[in-house]
Amino acid sequence: MLWLVLLATACRSTPPGGPAVITLPASMLGAEGEVLRIQLARFARLRPDIRVVQRATPDAADQRHQLYVQWLNAGASEPDILQLDVVWTPEFAAAGWILDLDRFHPPTDSFFPATVTANRWRGRLYAVPWFVDVGMLYWRTDLMRAPPATFAELEREAARARAERGLRYGLVWQGARYEGLVAVFSEYLGGFGGRILDGGRVTVSSPAGVRALTSMRDQIYRQGIVPPATLTWHEEESRFAFQNGETAFMRNWPYAYALMADSAESRVAGRYAVAVMPAESGGRPTAALGGAQLAINANSSHAESAWAVIDYLTRPEQMLERARVVGQFPTRPSLYDDPALARALAIPPAQARAIIEHAVPRPVTPVYTQLSDILQIYLHRALTRQLEPAPALAGAATEMQALLDRVGLGEARPIAGR
Ligand code: GLC
Repeated sequence: MLWLVLLATACRSTPPGGPAVITLPASMLGAEGEVLRIQLARFARLRPDIRVVQRATPDAADQRHQLYVQWLNAGASEPDILQLDVVWTPEFAAAGWILDLDRFHPPTDSFFPATVTANRWRGRLYAVPWFVDVGMLYWRTDLMRAPPATFAELEREAARARAERGLRYGLVWQGARYEGLVAVFSEYLGGFGGRILDGGRVTVSSPAGVRALTSMRDQIYRQGIVPPATLTWHEEESRFAFQNGETAFMRNWPYAYALMADSAESRVAGRYAVAVMPAESGGRPTAALGGAQLAINANSSHAESAWAVIDYLTRPEQMLERARVVGQFPTRPSLYDDPALARALAIPPAQARAIIEHAVPRPVTPVYTQLSDILQIYLHRALTRQLEPAPALAGAATEMQALLDRVGLGEARPIAGR
């Protein structure tokens, strides 16, 4: 047996030309950079023939996207591995920028089906789901007994908390003009029973869409529970407001949960819980499906080594550790029955799983970024009162439909019942 061990060790020793260098720009939000550093250090001991260089990327989704597009459009061979937002995979795959990973036989049956669907393009898998994000409603357990089920209840509770406890704000979300705003809007939209697209047809300017956007706007100017400052906020600014005890509710992703549990940093440690976002009759509680995937640059000179890194980072042990350190949700459903996950996550795994299984993907299309860019502009115009919600959504829908038609994805499919 010893010779086997020796042989295995020999195969994995540093090659004469030095190790293959793999670059991996990844998120450093919260404790993400730290957990990755720990995992890569362990990987280095297993595979001295591969050296992974960790790089930082901008936190804001759109800025990161822009940077990747610059690199990949220029045909750069670096970075080798890309941390992709769930909404980018079809775009990068269709552009030929990332490798079809089916050649490495990824264990696709082990991941939540929705996360696999979001990473397929023309039937092939282009990225491996790393962690899954779902938009959630954070609520203060010291201010109310149960989370609100409808927006009307949320507005009442928020107003009460402000009047009785002198809170500065009622609710905060991500309202800057970037991808985060579309994620938040998609949750209001689902809550009112609407959708952004239906096949090749843009359906965002439906009555449900107008009600959803009107509700967001009214929460700022009519009920006065959402501060106008939210219109410049990303994830972190919202978290700061919530963890400083300034607001009764916050819409955010799971990463905020673990960070706010630290009483040295957070004034609300031990005094909050999460729930799915509210809904009105005719709609359903909706969580935007987000999260990160790992893909390989099609021009990488070290595809095999890059795959070894991805395979390692997406194993159950690393996902459990990430859940414990960062609070991010694993993409492997089997882990939700593992007591180790219950110990690792502050949120009961069954509750996390229930939200994930109700998560609604944003449209899976190679022109998602362009569609979102148009929608962001019009949503923001309505929220800053430059346009009324109905003409804003009508304007967005016209431009989005024109874009789909132009690239041949806009065939209006007949829809039953319409
Ligand atoms: C999170 C989500 C991602 C989303 C982004 C918006 O990173 O994982 O899917 O697009 O936030 O800000």
